Amino acid sequence: MFSLDGKTALVTGAAKGIGFAVAKRFRAAGADVIITDISDAAEIAADIGAQFIRLDVSREREVADCFRELAAQQLLLDIVVNNAGIVPGDNFVLTEAGDDDSLRGVFEVNTYGVFYGLKHAPARMRDFGSIINTASLAAHLALPGNSQYSASKAAVVQLTRTSAVELGGRGIRVNAVCPSFIRTDMGGGELGESMSEELTALGRIGELEDLVGLYHFLASDESRFISGQVFNVDGGWTAGVSMGLMSKYREFE
Ligand code: NAI
Repeated sequence: MFSLDGKTALVTGAAKGIGFAVAKRFRAAGADVIITDISDAAEIAADIGAQFIRLDVSREREVADCFRELAAQQLLLDIVVNNAGIVPGDNFVLTEAGDDDSLRGVFEVNTYGVFYGLKHAPARMRDFGSIINTASLAAHLALPGNSQYSASKAAVVQLTRTSAVELGGRGIRVNAVCPSFIRTDMGGGELGESMSEELTALGRIGELEDLVGLYHFLASDESRFISGQVFNVDGGWTAGVSMGLMSKYREFE
């Protein structure tokens, strides 16, 4: 189903977590895959038969070099997943923010990283390809103490829409995925577990297998008329107030 045979995909931030799960799914669907990451992932890339290129997405020169390397290999891409991202460790309350280092650091990876991908990838892509940007549910929800992350991801949503319009003439589609907490090094842990249990309709944190199917579909030709869209994968979080939360204010039998 949704064969990716004959297609070549590049995934950023794919040494682990969502990026690696997506890369693995694309391989299983028949694609040739290039894993990129700031960390060394040569071994796990080799394990799934993928190529590895070391790449810090926040450095434009490295992004440009990466695509130059693909050109030297005479590789053309069909699928690009701009996925690399970081979540800040600090509590960034706007009125108390001391300096803007945290804001800048998060934007450099989460927003500029996607921007550089959108700027340089299309020249190495075949027409009718697919670009998928990993944003976050935080792009839509204000999270107190986390405005730098939310803002960086909201920018990704708008970059997605604009590039979809700009690249439409070549048949290249651009979509964004907005996950809620997913069990990875970033999203797992006590906070992700507890908030997901209380605030999502489904009452649990998301697993990687809950998420990768959407990337697979968006990468495939089956989604050929879908572009400029933003998909929440959130266990029903944004459908409304969860039963868990509502039951604090109202009794249900
Ligand atoms: P993770 O922390 O498990 O993996 C992130 C990967 O990105 C790592 O391999 C890391 O080395 C790489 N990376 C970090 N900075 C980089 C840079 N400058 N250049 C290249 N690679 C870099 O995180 P996870 O959970 O897999 O997240 C992937 C994406 O999904 C991120 O954009 C994140 O913001 C987003 N996301 C994650 C959610 C979650 O709950 N796990 C929820 C919503 C969005």
